[in-house]
Amino acid sequence: MRILSATLQHFRNLEPTELAFSPTVNLLVGRNGEGKTNLLEALGWFALGRSHMGAKPEEMIAFGQDALHVALQVEEDDGAQVACEFGLDRRGGRRLKVGGEPLKQRADLVGRLVTVVFNPDTIGLVRGAPQMRRQFADQGMSELDPAYLGHLSACQRALKQKAGLLHDLRRGFGGNGRGRAELVAWNRELAVHAAAVCQGRAAYARLLEGPLRANHEQLAGPVGEVSCDYRPRLEAVTKSLVAGGGESLPDDDLAGAIFAEIDYIMDSEIRRGRPLVGPQFDDFALAVEGVDLRVYGSQGQTRTAAIAMILARSDVLFGQRRMRPVLFFDDIFSELDPERSRRLQEMSSREHQVFIATARPDDVAGWRPAGLRAWRVERGQLAALDEVAGGE
Ligand SMILES: Nc1ncnc2c1ncn2[C@@H]1O[C@H](COP(=O)(O)OP(=O)(O)O)[C@@H](O)[C@H]1O
Ligand SMILES: [Mg+2]
Repeated sequence: MRILSATLQHFRNLEPTELAFSPTVNLLVGRNGEGKTNLLEALGWFALGRSHMGAKPEEMIAFGQDALHVALQVEEDDGAQVACEFGLDRRGGRRLKVGGEPLKQRADLVGRLVTVVFNPDTIGLVRGAPQMRRQFADQGMSELDPAYLGHLSACQRALKQKAGLLHDLRRGFGGNGRGRAELVAWNRELAVHAAAVCQGRAAYARLLEGPLRANHEQLAGPVGEVSCDYRPRLEAVTKSLVAGGGESLPDDDLAGAIFAEIDYIMDSEIRRGRPLVGPQFDDFALAVEGVDLRVYGSQGQTRTAAIAMILARSDVLFGQRRMRPVLFFDDIFSELDPERSRRLQEMSSREHQVFIATARPDDVAGWRPAGLRAWRVERGQLAALDEVAGGE
């Protein structure tokens, strides 16, 4: 998909403006602190219904203003055009519209606009906390299957309820048997949705495998085979994966086995006052030739693997749903050697609309893809550039 144009009002330091983008490569050049990341944040907000930078709504409203408004014209992969708008105000109000119609729930956003951000934090996908890898898989799987998002939300809700209850039970509240009964009920609920979530994560790791290898080899050359293996924490899930030879058990059986596993440790959970097992502890192991990158990867290796993961996510999305995400590269080429930078630029711009934000025009020196458009970003103002300094 492509973002054809955007109208911005009072989004951080960006001057109110209307922008028409290139369907291929869009380059934003400017020194640090001028507004490049802000523009990417504005363009990407609609994809998630929140800031990819994790910002609170009121932080994105321009200083001295009461509300912001962003309207995007998006072209979907089947050629259909759709207007996506959002407005946020300081009293916590938020209005979302697609094709002029108000959206009621955030889940309706999924798949309208799919964006993928590469920034210096991307490397955390390989090296960082398991949560980053879970989020990656959860987001990827939600794009493929909206029902997955439903199971994931239900899981999180059950876990939250359960955590509150365990906390109370530990402190001696609800000990008249009702608390325990309630806990069993939440465990049942959790087991049903956890089964679906774990199946989904296992399926996603399998879907990722081929594209991950292909992208990694294109980026890094024949340096060895990269792999991404799902590492569930629940034994019931591990067993079912082994038993199914990578395929899994029917949902009911797995949910039953998960419930039994959680139920078995109920007393320990009450004593400790928190949930001790569940899909919230899952992880994925990334390796090259079987060597764990999280532990043994060099900077260059981990970076390349992280980028290959993200490109693989796009290929999976395309393979399953004929959709291509819009790619945002925010300040990442300074972290890659010039040869890999160029390879990534060529690879990504073949199939995607790309936005590149950089403080160093040298990062793209000599690269003139067809359709390239460039802007200089200065104190929140965007000026179209005919020539990119630092070029040929
Ligand atoms: N709500 C806001 N209102 C006005 N300016 C803001 C707001 N939030 C951030 N800024 C300004 O945006 C600038 C940072 O922009 P950013 O897009 O991160 O820069 P870069 O070009 O380095 O990516 C800072 O100068 C900051 O003061
Ligand atoms: Mg920035």
